Amino acid sequence: MDLLLILSQEHDKLPLAELRAVLETEEIETELEMVCPGLVLLKELEEDVFDDYYRLLVRRLGYTHEVHQLIKTVDCSDLESEVKSIDWSEFIDENFAVRVKRFNSEIDTVDTERKIGGYILTSTDNISVNLSNPKSFIRVVAYKNTIYLCYGKYQLNKKYFEEMKPHKRPFFHPGCMSPKLARCMVNLSRVKEGDLVLDPFCGTGGILIEAGLIGAKVVGCDIDWRMKNGTATNLEYAGITDYKTHVVDIREMEMYEEADAVVTDPPYGISTTTCGEGASGIFKEFLESIEHSMKEDALLVMASPDSLDIDSLFKDVGFVLLERYAIKMHRSLTRIISVIAKID
Ligand SMILES: C[S@@+](CC[C@H](N)C(=O)[O-])C[C@H]1O[C@@H](n2cnc3c(N)ncnc32)[C@H](O)[C@@H]1O
Repeated sequence: MDLLLILSQEHDKLPLAELRAVLETEEIETELEMVCPGLVLLKELEEDVFDDYYRLLVRRLGYTHEVHQLIKTVDCSDLESEVKSIDWSEFIDENFAVRVKRFNSEIDTVDTERKIGGYILTSTDNISVNLSNPKSFIRVVAYKNTIYLCYGKYQLNKKYFEEMKPHKRPFFHPGCMSPKLARCMVNLSRVKEGDLVLDPFCGTGGILIEAGLIGAKVVGCDIDWRMKNGTATNLEYAGITDYKTHVVDIREMEMYEEADAVVTDPPYGISTTTCGEGASGIFKEFLESIEHSMKEDALLVMASPDSLDIDSLFKDVGFVLLERYAIKMHRSLTRIISVIAKID
């Protein structure tokens, strides 16, 4: 069985990198086909685990807009006969809506929605169209002359990343990252449900919220007690109960429990303080000390400003770079996201 995913196109590499990381973490065996930018097929998923994988992807992914079960791939010219040949009672419960999305296709969206809806109605008994609040959602994706007919069984909560914007949480401080990027960084760290995620510069807790929401246990440290308390407030607000927070200066960090992953956004000295030390000094001391708080196979996923040469900083410590992505935030800041492993 196949899934069709519509990825965000707000970054050219991160959405696909995040998807690959989740497939690897959850050991989802599939063949990934990139149809075109923003459109991905996951092919030949085993039937008995298909539903579990579908729900996992919907729960975890940050930079993916939609995940659907592929019903059939058809050519534009055979649309009527192909749509009528499908047993829609398998996918439609009482009422439905058809929505078309185009990728590089000339077809008329509204006209195609009407036509497909009509073909479904004439070939299936006891169902009706409900455009405002459908019980069943049929997603149609048109790419050039190919039509992907899909069933949207599980919907991603599209409003979540809007509603969880940092300024809408009870504790806010400038310099927090977007929940989508935080979720993506957590996914790049390959953590599983039940794993322990540490953020030693937790600030307002944005990264830990995302780790908690995918089922990880979270530990947050910050030099500033207001941040430590604010992280706890925000975690509670997000419904996360399995957490610990501590006031800790990274330069004096004692080993707590060894983490399965460290995901963090250290201070750049722009909107968050480096407490009198330059950003490069903090990053250096962090990289020197954090290794001891990580399990052997733990990954470190870290944001840094592009003005900082972090390669030269971790040359002498026991780390190796696995992946790197640049995100232009504004004219004077490009964020670098690095995925780093311990050297064996
Ligand atoms: C960029 S912010 C983290 C933002 C966070 N990701 C969020 O979503 O709010 C960096 C944090 O590092 C903390 N910090 C600065 N120096 C520190 C140090 N030496 N040890 C631990 N935390 C420190 C600051 O108080 C600040 O809250």
